[in-house]
Amino acid sequence: MITRIRLAIAGACVSALALVAVFAQQGGVATNATAQDSASQYPELGVRAGVYNDGQAALWDFNITDHFRYFGPPPRLRGYSPEQPIKFSHVIHVQQNKMECQYCHWSVSKAAYAAIPEEETCMGCHGALVQGKSEQGKKDIQYLKDMYAKNQPIPWVKVHVMPDYLKFNHKRHVKAGVTCQECHGQIPEMEKVERVSSMKMGWCISCHRERGASIDCLVCHGHR
Ligand code: HEC
Ligand code: HEC
Ligand code: HEC
Ligand code: HEC
Ligand code: HEC
Repeated sequence: MITRIRLAIAGACVSALALVAVFAQQGGVATNATAQDSASQYPELGVRAGVYNDGQAALWDFNITDHFRYFGPPPRLRGYSPEQPIKFSHVIHVQQNKMECQYCHWSVSKAAYAAIPEEETCMGCHGALVQGKSEQGKKDIQYLKDMYAKNQPIPWVKVHVMPDYLKFNHKRHVKAGVTCQECHGQIPEMEKVERVSSMKMGWCISCHRERGASIDCLVCHGHR
């Protein structure tokens, strides 16, 4: 009887600890490493490393709950990672083949948006040279070539979905030295891209306050 009670207590403690751990992770407490840290310790850090601290919901934020992934439509939450038409791996391309982000997302330092690469970019390597090793890979590359031959774009599913009223500009951030991983996490470690930060208003504002960038409402909410 006593053993059983002891076991029950031990069980309760373990689940409490697990909950705390999950909570801490969701709240971003565990992810406030700086960009410099992650650059030097890469690649052992995990996909959430280097992300700008999400735990500090600024007082400005109307929805503190936004910072946790449990509420709201899935495409607007942390952890969102939709299936893609091709199992495209950033691990293979960036980590193993040492490709630069901007080789594919060429517009990040030139425009507001970050281009998803056109099929031509992929075909440079997959047209005649690289045909894939795994079964899935061969199928995906065949699909890529078929779509290219038919002159149809690959229907990639957007991972970072923001409200229409928002004005976001990649160029400004990239030029100011904000790194990709502060907002997107360790993409080179992602077999499948995942949204690792809330990207809610409190998250934008707390970094802007810390770095002395504008927190004028119209800067983010003005007309495009
Ligand atoms: C070989 C080309 C290629 C390279 C190199 C590459 N990417 Fe990508 N990236 C893609 C493709 C294709 C997609 C769309 C499919 C997907 O989401 O997995 C994508 C998707 C993304 C997304 C999600 C976009 C969305 O839908 O919101 C982010 C963020 C991203 N890449 C960041 C990076 C970063 C950071 C690097 C460098 C560390 C990088 N990429 C290097 C091809 C590339
Ligand atoms: C600079 C050359 C290069 C470019 C550009 C490139 N890839 Fe790759 N890709 C590779 C290499 C190298 C491999 C790994 C070798 C292999 O699998 O045969 C690979 C692997 C793959 C695989 C997995 C194959 C497998 O066996 O699992 C897919 C799918 C793929 N690439 C799709 C794409 C798509 C989509 C694009 C464009 C957004 C792209 N690649 C752009 C070089 C490239
Ligand atoms: C300050 C935060 C921040 C930084 C830094 C940042 N991104 Fe983004 N990224 C975002 C946001 C927010 C979106 C969603 C934009 C939208 O939907 O309007 C996004 C979307 C994307 C997309 C999807 C296409 C698009 O424009 O919507 C890609 C690809 C991407 N980012 C790649 C990158 C790469 C590569 C870098 C580094 C060179 C980078 N990002 C740096 C915040 C950031
Ligand atoms: C990790 C830090 C960081 C995060 C997170 C961040 N920003 Fe920024 N942002 C900056 C910095 C630094 C600048 C100043 C760039 C400059 O001086 O040109 C800036 C500038 C801007 C500007 C241009 C301001 C102007 O004066 O014209 C806009 C718009 C903007 N950010 C929107 C956003 C939005 C929307 C988000 C959230 C989705 C966001 N930012 C998240 C660091 C950040
Ligand atoms: C640095 C960029 C930035 C600035 C500055 C900013 N906002 Fe926002 N705001 C956002 C983002 C990002 C969202 C979208 C949050 C989401 O995805 O739900 C947002 C959403 C909102 C919403 C909708 C809230 C909700 O929960 O649906 C309101 C209202 C709002 N902002 C008002 C303001 C006011 C008022 C100011 C000036 C005091 C301001 N914002 C300044 C980035 C900003």
